[in-house]
Amino acid sequence: MATTATLKLDHKEYPLPVIVGTEGEKAVDIRHLRTETGCISYDDGYGNTGSCQSAVTYIDGEAGILRYRGYPIEQLAEHSSFIETAYLIINGELPTPAQRRRFSQLLTENSPIHSSMEHLFEGFPAGAPPMAILSAMLNSLGCYYPHLATNDHQRDLENYGETAAIIISKVRTIAAYSYRASRGLPYIYPRRDLPYCENFLHMMFSTPYEPYIPLPEVAQALNLFLLLHADHEQNCSTSTVRMVASSGANLFASTAAGVCALWGPLHGGANMAVLQMLESIHAEGDDGTKFIEQAKLGKADKRLMGFGHRVYRHYDPRATIIKDSFYSALASLGIKDDPLLNIAMRLEEAALKDEYFLSRKLYPNVDFYSGLIMRAIGIPENMFTVMFAIGRMPGWIANWREVASNQKGRIYRPRQIYTGALKRDYVPPHQRK
Ligand code: CMC
Repeated sequence: MATTATLKLDHKEYPLPVIVGTEGEKAVDIRHLRTETGCISYDDGYGNTGSCQSAVTYIDGEAGILRYRGYPIEQLAEHSSFIETAYLIINGELPTPAQRRRFSQLLTENSPIHSSMEHLFEGFPAGAPPMAILSAMLNSLGCYYPHLATNDHQRDLENYGETAAIIISKVRTIAAYSYRASRGLPYIYPRRDLPYCENFLHMMFSTPYEPYIPLPEVAQALNLFLLLHADHEQNCSTSTVRMVASSGANLFASTAAGVCALWGPLHGGANMAVLQMLESIHAEGDDGTKFIEQAKLGKADKRLMGFGHRVYRHYDPRATIIKDSFYSALASLGIKDDPLLNIAMRLEEAALKDEYFLSRKLYPNVDFYSGLIMRAIGIPENMFTVMFAIGRMPGWIANWREVASNQKGRIYRPRQIYTGALKRDYVPPHQRK
């Protein structure tokens, strides 16, 4: 394999080093391109750009492979839990039993939020989107722990384990509180005796006079959902976290920015968008046939949500796992013959036979089924993307650490090709036409 590529520009040749990752992925290193040639690279949407070197997650989109810290997603989904996987992603190794116990203890200790923070929720208008509340609250955590949010990476890294545990634990409490605040319901405090997912469901659905006790299958489905979302290399939100971290920002601020990036319908908001799409197809009396035809016209507002992926050019491996577990969760919940599920199945079947989708390598992604899972276990629609954010937190945290601990790291600062007006002189208001 060549270790150097050659760029020919204006009759001059420039050698460019080729770097190779541990799984053999190759990249042409253009870090000195501008200094040596005066040119920058242009890559709208960064589809060909490696923005960093990372040891967290490996994806082979062609082969449908996803591994966290080297462990295949299928093995983690079968044998691990969200919390164990979160530890793996955050710290690089699976925990020993003692490390696992200590991590759980830290999560339990950190599950309540400061009582004065409860008042912050009241500042939001009724019906405020829980994603907006989540981002604001995560950022405000830095005000409650100023010694962990110094914006001095060396100091913030000294407390990395504690800060990570605070975020993993409190994001669940904040998420549940944001739901209850948006509904005008009283807050339910976390319990010390409940595991992570059960505790979240308790804070969401218990009432002051009646505890909510989820079916084991419901807690298990939530656990799997979170585990499958725990990291996904340099997606839009994780890149945002790294971008913010690269300026020296603390972990609370960086993950709060990740929440904002996740919100949109092309990213984490897709799970909500899938459900809205299925509901509108159902309301229009369509069985999916008309919608598929519209989706093929290439209009951005009529895409088949939950289909396609920048990296996967075949089945998203997470979609396969979530689809299988979805059917067993439905069976244990006694849900049969759900009209939205029937539409989803018809859409998938039709798209997988259709030349438009096949030629563009558009297959179901994780969000195609995850919204339906959330709905089946009783999570309200406007919380779907919040659930994704809870799941993605370990990946954001681990990526923040990579940026913060890179001694040679530079601030992320892409360039652009300017296409605006040429230099012109200021026109006083009365002379403007
Ligand atoms: N329905 C119909 N056409 C599509 C779709 C879709 N869902 N996705 C892509 N296309 C078409 C697109 O119009 C384009 O066609 P043409 O070549 O004729 O112009 C071609 O496929 C390539 O699309 P693209 O927009 O260049 O692909 P991208 O890599 O920039 O976008 C995507 C990836 C995920 C944003 C896009 O596939 C999409 O919008 N999917 C629906 C939203 C969705 O499900 N998002 C969740 C992604 S998975 C969760 C996560 O990791 O965030």
